[in-house]
Amino acid sequence: MSIEKVVIPVAGLGTRLLPATKSQPKEMLPVGRKPVVQYVVEEMIDQGLEKIMFITGRDKRSIEDHFDRDPELLAHLSQAGEERLFNGSGYDENTRFFYTRQIIPKDRQTPGGLGAAIAMAHDFVSEEHFVVALGDTIIRSGNHAGLVRRMIKSHEAKDAACTIAVVEVEEDEVNQYGIVHPVGRGRTDFEIDGIVEKPSPSDAPSRLAVAGRYIFSSEIFSALERTSPGYQGEIQLTDAIRILIKMGHTVRCIRLKKDEHRYDIGNPESYYRAFIDFAISDQQYGYRIRQYFQQRLRSF
Ligand code: G1P
Repeated sequence: MSIEKVVIPVAGLGTRLLPATKSQPKEMLPVGRKPVVQYVVEEMIDQGLEKIMFITGRDKRSIEDHFDRDPELLAHLSQAGEERLFNGSGYDENTRFFYTRQIIPKDRQTPGGLGAAIAMAHDFVSEEHFVVALGDTIIRSGNHAGLVRRMIKSHEAKDAACTIAVVEVEEDEVNQYGIVHPVGRGRTDFEIDGIVEKPSPSDAPSRLAVAGRYIFSSEIFSALERTSPGYQGEIQLTDAIRILIKMGHTVRCIRLKKDEHRYDIGNPESYYRAFIDFAISDQQYGYRIRQYFQQRLRSF
């Protein structure tokens, strides 16, 4: 089995970040020097994955523009001797981008949910195993084999139908995520026998939350066909994963390492935290920004 395709869903409305997301995708909000989704694409390219499909939606055109070649801008910058500004602007010669649009169903005013978005990738991935990377989640890694590579290795070795990245969250955060129920102690690489979308703290089966990276076999599409609307009336990917388990498939998790950080750009607080972390570690300005923070904090 060789995994080479990635699906990046970016069709969500980003309502928790309004008004910043009224006419621009939350995936295009800058964190430090780059838009969120560029970190996601670079993470995939770093792991050797170069066929990337975006599941887009209304008002998401700027994502396609961002990953397009821009000869006019390039010419302008080279005239000014500023090509370096173009480096890492998101466009990559070797990467193939594909786009499909999640149409809002007739009976709804909002997209049909993450599960419905992933169902749209069936033609793209066909019978292959594939990676799903949420376009609003940045994974920042230390100096070791990247998260998705570790997931692929385990997924293949254990012949899993689904492998999910998870991270421990605080008790009062479990209601923001999909939460898994490990078989056994759930240390670094483990099987699960349950998963629930955004449970209340009293119903949560653990504090291990889905961290925005998944690997699936094409069985997920049969599971999605059997999935009824769940949390907020949407087709939830989490519910489809629970059906996969019921169908008798192996679903496993890989826990993020201590020096791997997940930034979920889902609400103002998590967005501020992400921006601060990237700003204070900026190579050029980080030192001065840290000094600025220290100075500002003294007056609070
Ligand atoms: C989605 C998933 C959830 C997962 C989360 C990770 O929720 O439904 O299971 O834990 O992403 O960021 P959303 O953030 O779209 O509400």
